Amino acid sequence: MSVSVIPDEAESNARATKSPLRFPDGFLWGTATAAFQVEGSTTADGRSQSIWDSFCARPGAVRDGDTGEPAADHYRRMEEDVRLMAELGLPAYRFSISWPRVRPDAGPVNRAGLDFYERLMDTLLANGITPWPTLYHWDLPQALEDRGGWADRDTAYRFAEYADTVLAALGDRATAWTTLNEPWCSAFLGYGSGRHAPGRTEPAAAVAAGHHLLLAHGLGLERIRAHAPHAEAGVTLNLFPVRPALPGDADDLEAVRRVDGLQNRFFLDPLLRGGYPEDVLADLAPFGLADRIEDDDSRKIAAPLDFLGVNYYRDLHVSARSDAESGSPSEWVGAEHVSFPRRDLPRTDSGWEINPGGLTALLLALDRDYAVPPLYITENGVAFPDRLGADGTVLDHDRVEFLQTHLRAAHSALEHGVDLRGYFYWSLLDNFEWAEGYAKRFGLVHVDYATQRRTPKLSANWYAGVVADNGLGT
Ligand code: NOJ
Repeated sequence: MSVSVIPDEAESNARATKSPLRFPDGFLWGTATAAFQVEGSTTADGRSQSIWDSFCARPGAVRDGDTGEPAADHYRRMEEDVRLMAELGLPAYRFSISWPRVRPDAGPVNRAGLDFYERLMDTLLANGITPWPTLYHWDLPQALEDRGGWADRDTAYRFAEYADTVLAALGDRATAWTTLNEPWCSAFLGYGSGRHAPGRTEPAAAVAAGHHLLLAHGLGLERIRAHAPHAEAGVTLNLFPVRPALPGDADDLEAVRRVDGLQNRFFLDPLLRGGYPEDVLADLAPFGLADRIEDDDSRKIAAPLDFLGVNYYRDLHVSARSDAESGSPSEWVGAEHVSFPRRDLPRTDSGWEINPGGLTALLLALDRDYAVPPLYITENGVAFPDRLGADGTVLDHDRVEFLQTHLRAAHSALEHGVDLRGYFYWSLLDNFEWAEGYAKRFGLVHVDYATQRRTPKLSANWYAGVVADNGLGT
């Protein structure tokens, strides 16, 4: 495959057009959050410790020593938040279910934990909002990490049990279920670079974790099919178009191949083509990838999907030269001598280059190179240093611009025939941005963490207008 070939035409279209755009009828609009990032109440109602609670307690792991408390206190303010979504007219809500609330210590089911999600889904449904649950968004029970975590195959089976519990109880309340969010991050940031929980820096464990997460997806999918046969089932990946710093340069193209292999094809090929690409198996041979694969894994992982969730934040610009500005981060297991030189592009508060054309390129490349099921953009969003003004408003014109250009980029893919069914903005609320703590604000709704007061930003009202019109500038 190559997400690496960028269709320039689509890219420039996405930028140039300023004409009104309409999205297809039935296009699903929503916002997204994840349990650990918004809920808080980390010891309430029988919830046990997750790897993120432990990681936050480690000095220096998370900026400013921030933790999962109070987050956006959503566990206690869920009704208010659903009301807010209803007032903004947001049709769908992507959220995650917390494993350590539902099966603490991987032991017996915690009914009180399930009850929260039952109430959440019922409240959403009562307000006409489509619940779009994800089973795993990075909060592994610490008890399972103590037994090896995702580096241990057993965790995939424990995930299947957890999925079974959730689907048996709540399967009828959603029309779409997602197994995992961004398994690349769980595996390679969690066990490779150690930038995320559990903070391990063991390349072979990262590779093993990647395979076990894919297996967990396959097993989870079976549980969704068993309990919710009419629901759609899928998985969400963070995919990046990868482009060479020097087009045509053989070394840069080799760097592109490696990064594309680790970031995109490591997940896409087993899911959509029945196995890992040969070159990825070869690159990761020193880390034992092939040894992790057991009979029947490939079939389970490649079971048909009803949709693929795509999270897009930025593209990757890759060089083989070590003198380039930012050197080879250690999450690129097996891709030494790779760097990510800066381009002359505007940046977000996270330091990420803004390139909406990359979204079009990614969607077109997926459509061209794989037999993809319908696609949803399950995350796209941006952190900017928002300020709550004295008059109580947050005038985030920069986020409106980001949204506008990215929605145009998504629309451009639709015009090129991509079967894109929906878009979820990340995030509904400002929240806990993992290793960055509360310093980065992605929300459409501002959260004052001291008072937990919610203030819809300018972008929230702008997005509500897009949703109401099913388009831009119409
Ligand atoms: C992807 C993750 O799924 C989400 O948890 C995170 O906050 C956003 N990207 C922004 O980094």
